[in-house]
Amino acid sequence: PQPGPTASVPNRSTTRVIAHRGASGTYAEHTLAAYKLAIEQGADGLECDVRLTADGHLVCVHDRTVNRTSNGRGVVSTLELAQLSELDFGGWKAGEVEETDWTTADHTSVLTLERLLELHADAGRPIELAIETKHPTRYAGLVEKRLMELLRRFGLVPHKGEGPSPVRVMSFSQLSLRRIRQMAPELPTVFLMERVLPWLRDGSLPHGARIAGPGIDLIRANPGYVAALHRAGHRVHVWTVDEPEDVELCLRLGVEAIITNHPRRVLDQLGR
Ligand code: G3P
Ligand code: CA
Repeated sequence: PQPGPTASVPNRSTTRVIAHRGASGTYAEHTLAAYKLAIEQGADGLECDVRLTADGHLVCVHDRTVNRTSNGRGVVSTLELAQLSELDFGGWKAGEVEETDWTTADHTSVLTLERLLELHADAGRPIELAIETKHPTRYAGLVEKRLMELLRRFGLVPHKGEGPSPVRVMSFSQLSLRRIRQMAPELPTVFLMERVLPWLRDGSLPHGARIAGPGIDLIRANPGYVAALHRAGHRVHVWTVDEPEDVELCLRLGVEAIITNHPRRVLDQLGR
């Protein structure tokens, strides 16, 4: 149901816990190992960032370059998938967790969105997917086009009148949200924000976005904004919430989802 003033307030058992880049507090972000661990740990959903490679594949990489999260160098959009496949995306995190074989493909390989959707399909239980479009203003909508092709192939684009969608597309870019709405009006979108834009203070969101995605810093500085968003009929999904006191703040404010690098820790705090 679309939460609004009359919807029930989320609580410790209903607030969704979404694994940010997988269980990325433990394993290297955006690796298959990090997503498998998040599913094992009981996360309600998975968050990922997507970027386009030079040969038109969507890969799960946060930064513009591969420099921080792999043993290679270069801008993702200038590299082909075959080149990305030669890099190790896990080694930089190795050593932080004992008794882990960091040389397996699950820990080292670049993750395509297609592979993540396969994992999602095979999870054996309902899992939410929050997919964020990065650098979407380039490529004249190719990121969104490829994303829709993949979601359609996996039967993840909802039709009018269907129940809640397991997938939502998130972006800081209003242009990207507008494109998604044009291509798939029933697919829920999340408007990500680091600050409250002056013309959205009343809780309204641009381009038909149904969910607000404020950062935890914004919420700490401006907790009353959550009520404004709820009054406007929107759900609120907060990122990136790793500190226990921030989890408690989110619970007090009745946010619908907590996006965290430590899903097991947050679930423990929620008593689940
Ligand atoms: O879930 C939204 C959040 O991931 C946005 O920030 O930089 O982690 O992609 P970032
Ligand atoms: Ca993200």
